Amino acid sequence: MTRDLVIRPARDQESALLASLHKECFAKAWSKKQIIPMLAMPGAFVLVAERGEKAQGFIMVRAGGGEAEILTICVVPAARGQRLGEHLITASLAHLLAYGEPISPAPENAAKVMPLFLEVAESNQAARALYARMGFEIVGKRPNYYRHEDGRQETALMMKLQP
Ligand SMILES: CC(C)(COP(=O)(O)OP(=O)(O)OC[C@H]1O[C@@H](n2cnc3c(N)ncnc32)[C@H](O)[C@@H]1OP(=O)(O)O)[C@@H](O)C(=O)NCCC(=O)NCCS
Repeated sequence: MTRDLVIRPARDQESALLASLHKECFAKAWSKKQIIPMLAMPGAFVLVAERGEKAQGFIMVRAGGGEAEILTICVVPAARGQRLGEHLITASLAHLLAYGEPISPAPENAAKVMPLFLEVAESNQAARALYARMGFEIVGKRPNYYRHEDGRQETALMMKLQP
Protein backbone atom coordinates (compact mmCIF):
# COMPACT_ATOMS: atom_id res chain seq x y z
CA MET A 1 0.00 0.00 0.00
CA THR A 2 3.00 2.30 -0.05
CA ARG A 3 2.95 2.46 -3.84
CA ASP A 4 2.84 6.07 -5.04
CA LEU A 5 4.08 7.21 -1.65
CA VAL A 6 6.30 10.28 -1.71
CA ILE A 7 8.22 11.48 1.34
CA ARG A 8 9.28 15.07 0.77
CA PRO A 9 10.49 18.04 2.81
CA ALA A 10 7.74 20.43 3.88
CA ARG A 11 7.62 23.53 1.76
CA ASP A 12 7.62 27.10 3.05
CA GLN A 13 4.13 28.30 3.85
CA GLU A 14 2.82 24.82 4.65
CA SER A 15 2.21 25.50 8.34
CA ALA A 16 -1.58 25.50 7.80
CA LEU A 17 -1.40 22.07 6.16
CA LEU A 18 0.76 20.73 9.00
CA ALA A 19 -1.65 22.16 11.59
CA SER A 20 -4.63 20.51 9.90
CA LEU A 21 -2.86 17.12 9.75
CA HIS A 22 -1.88 17.49 13.41
CA LYS A 23 -5.49 18.28 14.33
CA GLU A 24 -6.68 15.05 12.72
CA CYS A 25 -4.22 13.10 14.87
CA PHE A 26 -4.01 14.68 18.33
CA ALA A 27 -6.60 15.83 20.87
CA LYS A 28 -4.20 18.62 21.86
CA ALA A 29 -3.01 19.64 18.41
CA TRP A 30 -0.48 22.34 17.49
CA SER A 31 -1.90 25.44 15.85
CA LYS A 32 -0.44 27.09 12.76
CA LYS A 33 0.81 29.86 15.05
CA GLN A 34 2.67 27.33 17.20
CA ILE A 35 4.13 25.51 14.20
CA ILE A 36 5.61 28.55 12.40
CA PRO A 37 8.39 29.25 14.96
CA MET A 38 9.11 25.52 15.26
CA LEU A 39 9.91 25.36 11.56
CA ALA A 40 12.50 28.10 12.08
CA MET A 41 14.30 26.34 14.95
CA PRO A 42 17.95 25.61 14.16
CA GLY A 43 18.40 21.98 13.09
CA ALA A 44 14.66 21.37 12.65
CA PHE A 45 13.17 19.74 9.57
CA VAL A 46 9.77 18.40 8.53
CA LEU A 47 9.09 15.57 6.09
CA VAL A 48 5.61 15.08 4.64
CA ALA A 49 4.15 11.74 3.51
CA GLU A 50 2.06 12.28 0.42
CA ARG A 51 0.14 9.99 -1.89
CA GLY A 52 -1.46 11.24 -5.08
CA GLU A 53 -0.47 14.77 -4.00
CA LYS A 54 -2.56 14.34 -0.87
CA ALA A 55 -0.62 14.84 2.37
CA GLN A 56 -1.31 12.03 4.84
CA GLY A 57 1.14 12.65 7.63
CA PHE A 58 4.36 14.30 8.67
CA ILE A 59 7.31 14.08 11.02
CA MET A 60 9.15 16.95 12.68
CA VAL A 61 12.70 16.32 13.86
CA ARG A 62 15.23 18.55 15.52
CA ALA A 63 18.95 17.81 15.43
CA GLY A 64 21.60 19.45 17.57
CA GLY A 65 24.49 18.69 19.88
CA GLY A 66 25.20 15.34 18.24
CA GLU A 67 21.71 13.95 18.75
CA ALA A 68 18.25 14.30 17.27
CA GLU A 69 14.69 14.19 18.58
CA ILE A 70 11.36 13.43 16.96
CA LEU A 71 9.22 16.38 18.08
CA THR A 72 6.09 14.95 16.50
CA ILE A 73 4.97 12.26 14.08
CA CYS A 74 1.45 11.77 12.81
CA VAL A 75 -0.44 9.89 10.12
CA VAL A 76 -4.12 10.63 9.47
CA PRO A 77 -6.47 7.86 10.71
CA ALA A 78 -7.52 6.76 7.20
CA ALA A 79 -3.90 6.05 6.21
CA ARG A 80 -2.69 4.28 9.36
CA GLY A 81 -1.29 0.76 9.47
CA GLN A 82 0.30 1.09 6.03
CA ARG A 83 3.84 1.77 7.24
CA LEU A 84 3.73 5.52 6.53
CA GLY A 85 5.02 6.11 10.05
CA GLU A 86 7.90 3.72 9.39
CA HIS A 87 8.72 5.44 6.09
CA LEU A 88 8.71 8.86 7.77
CA ILE A 89 11.19 7.70 10.42
CA THR A 90 13.39 5.88 7.89
CA ALA A 91 13.48 9.00 5.68
CA SER A 92 14.38 11.13 8.71
CA LEU A 93 17.31 8.85 9.50
CA ALA A 94 18.51 9.23 5.90
CA HIS A 95 18.11 12.99 6.17
CA LEU A 96 20.11 13.07 9.42
CA LEU A 97 22.82 10.94 7.85
CA ALA A 98 23.03 13.26 4.85
CA TYR A 99 22.78 16.61 6.61
CA GLY A 100 23.38 15.96 10.29
CA GLU A 101 26.46 16.97 12.18
CA PRO A 102 28.84 14.15 13.13
CA ILE A 103 28.94 12.80 16.64
CA SER A 104 31.92 14.23 18.43
CA PRO A 105 34.48 12.77 18.70
CA ALA A 106 33.70 10.81 15.55
CA PRO A 107 35.90 7.84 14.74
CA GLU A 108 37.83 8.43 11.57
CA ASN A 109 35.72 7.77 8.46
CA ALA A 110 32.69 6.96 10.61
CA ALA A 111 29.28 7.52 9.14
CA LYS A 112 27.54 10.59 10.51
CA VAL A 113 25.10 8.68 12.67
CA MET A 114 23.47 10.27 15.68
CA PRO A 115 21.04 8.81 18.19
CA LEU A 116 17.38 9.62 17.67
CA PHE A 117 15.21 10.24 20.74
CA LEU A 118 11.47 10.58 21.25
CA GLU A 119 8.90 10.53 23.98
CA VAL A 120 5.63 8.63 23.90
CA ALA A 121 2.67 8.12 26.21
CA GLU A 122 2.79 4.73 27.88
CA SER A 123 -0.71 3.82 26.61
CA ASN A 124 -0.01 4.73 22.96
CA GLN A 125 0.10 1.13 21.70
CA ALA A 126 0.17 1.93 17.97
CA ALA A 127 3.12 4.31 18.29
CA ARG A 128 4.94 1.95 20.66
CA ALA A 129 4.48 -0.95 18.22
CA LEU A 130 6.01 1.17 15.47
CA TYR A 131 8.95 2.35 17.59
CA ALA A 132 9.69 -1.15 18.94
CA ARG A 133 9.62 -2.58 15.41
CA MET A 134 12.16 0.05 14.35
CA GLY A 135 14.52 -0.73 17.22
CA PHE A 136 13.83 2.13 19.65
CA GLU A 137 14.55 1.23 23.28
CA ILE A 138 13.10 2.69 26.46
CA VAL A 139 15.78 4.75 28.21
CA GLY A 140 13.71 6.60 30.80
CA LYS A 141 10.27 7.29 32.26
CA ARG A 142 8.61 10.53 33.33
CA PRO A 143 5.68 9.71 35.61
CA ASN A 144 2.58 11.92 35.31
CA TYR A 145 4.20 13.80 32.43
CA TYR A 146 1.08 14.13 30.28
CA ARG A 147 -2.21 15.55 31.47
CA HIS A 148 -5.21 14.47 29.39
CA GLU A 149 -8.27 16.64 28.83
CA ASP A 150 -10.22 14.64 31.45
CA GLY A 151 -7.50 15.46 34.00
CA ARG A 152 -5.97 11.98 33.90
CA GLN A 153 -2.18 11.96 34.09
CA GLU A 154 0.07 9.59 32.22
CA THR A 155 3.69 8.46 32.17
CA ALA A 156 5.91 9.44 29.26
CA LEU A 157 8.45 6.90 28.02
CA MET A 158 11.72 8.29 26.70
CA MET A 159 12.98 6.16 23.81
CA LYS A 160 16.22 6.07 21.88
CA LEU A 161 17.32 4.60 18.57
CA GLN A 162 21.03 4.30 17.90
CA PRO A 163 21.19 3.75 14.13
C1 LIG B 1 1.78 6.45 15.59
C2 LIG B 1 1.43 6.65 14.11
C3 LIG B 1 2.25 7.81 13.55
C4 LIG B 1 1.80 5.36 13.35
O1 LIG B 1 1.61 5.60 11.97
P1 LIG B 1 1.34 4.38 10.94
O2 LIG B 1 1.57 4.89 9.57
O3 LIG B 1 0.06 3.74 11.24
O4 LIG B 1 2.57 3.45 11.33
P2 LIG B 1 2.93 2.01 10.79
O5 LIG B 1 1.89 1.51 9.85
O6 LIG B 1 4.34 2.07 10.31
O7 LIG B 1 2.89 1.15 12.15
C5 LIG B 1 1.77 1.21 13.00
C6 LIG B 1 1.85 0.13 14.03
O8 LIG B 1 0.80 0.31 14.96
C7 LIG B 1 0.04 -0.88 15.04
N1 LIG B 1 -1.29 -0.46 15.42
C8 LIG B 1 -2.17 0.26 14.74
N2 LIG B 1 -3.27 0.50 15.49
C9 LIG B 1 -3.02 -0.10 16.69
C10 LIG B 1 -3.74 -0.22 17.89
N3 LIG B 1 -4.94 0.34 18.01
N4 LIG B 1 -3.19 -0.90 18.92
C11 LIG B 1 -1.99 -1.47 18.79
N5 LIG B 1 -1.24 -1.38 17.68
C12 LIG B 1 -1.75 -0.70 16.65
C13 LIG B 1 0.16 -1.48 13.68
O9 LIG B 1 -0.20 -2.82 13.69
C14 LIG B 1 1.64 -1.24 13.42
O10 LIG B 1 2.46 -2.12 14.16
P3 LIG B 1 2.89 -3.58 13.66
O11 LIG B 1 2.56 -3.68 12.21
O12 LIG B 1 4.35 -3.66 13.92
O13 LIG B 1 2.08 -4.48 14.50
C15 LIG B 1 -0.10 6.90 13.94
O14 LIG B 1 -0.80 5.86 14.57
C16 LIG B 1 -0.56 8.23 14.49
O15 LIG B 1 -0.46 9.26 13.83
N6 LIG B 1 -1.09 8.24 15.72
C17 LIG B 1 -1.62 9.47 16.35
C18 LIG B 1 -0.50 10.43 16.67
C19 LIG B 1 0.52 9.79 17.58
O16 LIG B 1 0.19 9.11 18.55
N7 LIG B 1 1.80 10.04 17.28
C20 LIG B 1 2.90 9.51 18.05
C21 LIG B 1 3.14 10.34 19.25
S1 LIG B 1 4.54 9.75 20.18
